[in-house]
Amino acid sequence: MVLLCKTINELRSQIAIHRYQHQHQIGLVPTMGALHQGHLSLIEQAIADNDIVVVSVFVNPLQFAPQEDLANYPRQLEQDLQICQELGVDLIFAPSPQEMNSGGDTEALNSTTAVIPPQNMTQALCGKYRPGHFTGVATIVTKLFNIIQPDKAYFGQKDAQQLAIIRRLIQDLHIPVEIIGCPIVREASGLALSSRNQYLKPIEREEAARIYSSLQKAKAAFYRGELKAIALINLVKQELSSVERVKIQYVDLIDPVNLQSLNQIEQQGLLAIAAYVGSTRLIDNIVLQKRQPIIAIDGPAGAGKSTVTRHVAHQLGLLYLDTGAMYRAVTWLVMQSKIAINDEPAIALLIQDISLKLTSPNAVNLPTVVHIDGQEVTNAIRTPEVTANVSAIAAQSKVRTKLVEMQQQWGKAGGLIAEGRDIGTSVFPDAELKIFLTATVAERAKRRWQDLQNQGRDDISIEQLALNIQQRDEQDSNRAIAPLKKADDAVELITDNLTIEEVIEKIIELYNQI
Ligand code: PAJ
Repeated sequence: MVLLCKTINELRSQIAIHRYQHQHQIGLVPTMGALHQGHLSLIEQAIADNDIVVVSVFVNPLQFAPQEDLANYPRQLEQDLQICQELGVDLIFAPSPQEMNSGGDTEALNSTTAVIPPQNMTQALCGKYRPGHFTGVATIVTKLFNIIQPDKAYFGQKDAQQLAIIRRLIQDLHIPVEIIGCPIVREASGLALSSRNQYLKPIEREEAARIYSSLQKAKAAFYRGELKAIALINLVKQELSSVERVKIQYVDLIDPVNLQSLNQIEQQGLLAIAAYVGSTRLIDNIVLQKRQPIIAIDGPAGAGKSTVTRHVAHQLGLLYLDTGAMYRAVTWLVMQSKIAINDEPAIALLIQDISLKLTSPNAVNLPTVVHIDGQEVTNAIRTPEVTANVSAIAAQSKVRTKLVEMQQQWGKAGGLIAEGRDIGTSVFPDAELKIFLTATVAERAKRRWQDLQNQGRDDISIEQLALNIQQRDEQDSNRAIAPLKKADDAVELITDNLTIEEVIEKIIELYNQI
C-alpha cells in the first residue's frame, strides 16, 4: 500500500522505521509528477534494486524562469498515486512549495540558500537558455537527498545535462548516494516521452518524432566514420530544416561527463537538441560512443547464414553472437531448475538476473563456448533433450525481450556479428554493416536436397522441399515475434551463383570498406 506523505516530518519518520528497524535499502525517484512511461521505467528499476522506494512528486518552482510554464505544468497527483500504487511504490512525497521552502520561481533563488553547480556545466545546452534552472534543480535535489538520505537515486538520460550535473553535485558535496542513470523511453515513433508532450497537437506530435530521426541520421553517419561535431550537428539541422513546426533552439555535441563542447569525438560524445514544436519546448539526445563495428546478417532459412557468419567471425576476430546458443542456455537452465517449459512467469523470474557469457571457440568448426552463471555449459546445452525444448522457450516473449536486451548491451562495445531474421531491423538497427543473405527458393531447395542425398536420404523430392521452403519463408515474414525483414540500408547478397568462400570474401570486403 502506497503511503502519501505531505510533510517532511511525516516522511522522515516513515523512512526512519524502514532504515533503522528493518535495515531497508532505500531508493529515491525524484519527479515533478504527471507520470508517464519514462518515469515508470525509473520507478521499476528502483523497485528491482531496493527494499523501499520513495517517489517524490514536486513541481519545483525554483527551476522555472518567470516566463516559463510553472502555472500550467500538468499536475495530477491522484492519477500519479494510482500509478505508484499499482507499481508497488512504498512512499510518495508530495510536499507543498511552502513545506519545501521553495515558494517562488528562479528569482527566489536570490533569497534562499542555493546549490550552484559549476558554471562551465550550466553554461552548456539548456543552461544558456534557462538561467537559474540548474541551480533550482540542484537545490531541490540536494534538499531531497538530505531529507530522504536514499542509498540510490534514479535519473533519466533524457535530461542528460541534469544527470551529469547531479553526478558532479554528489561528488563535489560528498553526498553518500549512488546515482543510477536510466535509458530514454520513447514512443513507437521515436519521440522521447515527456510530461510536456501533453501540450502537443496531433500534427505537432507527428512532426516532433522527426527530432529523434534526425539524431538517428547523425548516429548512422557517426558509425560510418563521421566524427566532426560540425558535420554531425549540421546533419541534424538539415534533417529538421524541412519540418515546418519544429524550430531548433540548439544542437550541440559535448562531452557527456563534463559537458564541454567537442570539435570531434575521440571516445564518446553527447549529441543534444532542444527545439520548439509549436509553443512546446522539447529536448532529446543520443550518446555517440566509438565501438568496433557490428555486422548484422539477416535472411530466410536455408540461405547459409550460420556457416557464413561463423567463418566471417573467425576471419575478422569478431564475436559470433550465437543467439541460438543463448536460447539453448536458457532452455538448459529451465530444465535444470525443474520448471515446466510452459511456465512463462516462473521462467521470466528465473532469468531476470542470469549472467550469460559467450566466447569465440578456437576453431571455426567448434561450437561457441557458453557460460551461464559462471558454469561452462558448452556441451550441456547441445543435447537432444535441450534441442527438443528450445523452440518452445524461444517463443516466449519475456525470454526474447530479456535476451535481446543482453545482446544490445553487448552490442554497445561492438566487435560482433549476429545472424537471424531481424538483427539489422530490430536488434542492432545501428549496425555498421547489414547484409540480407538470400537465395532463390529453387536454389535453397536444391542445396537442401543435396544435403539430404549426402546423408543417404532420397525420400523427398526437390519440388516438395521447394514448397516447404516457400511456406517457411511466408511464416517467417509474418510471424508476430521477430518477423523476417530486410533493413532499408542492408546490402542484399543473393548467393545462387556464389560459393560459400565467395560469400565470405564479399562480406569481408564490405567490412573493410566501413
Ligand atoms: P521530471 O521532468 O518529472 O523527470 C523526472 C525524472 O524522469 C528525470 O530524471 C527525467 O530524466 C526522467 N525522465 C523523464 N522522461 C523520461 C524518458 N522519456 N525516459 C527516461 N527518463 C525520463 O527532471 C525532473 O522532473 C526534475 O528536474 C527533478 C529532477 C524532479 C527536480 O525537480
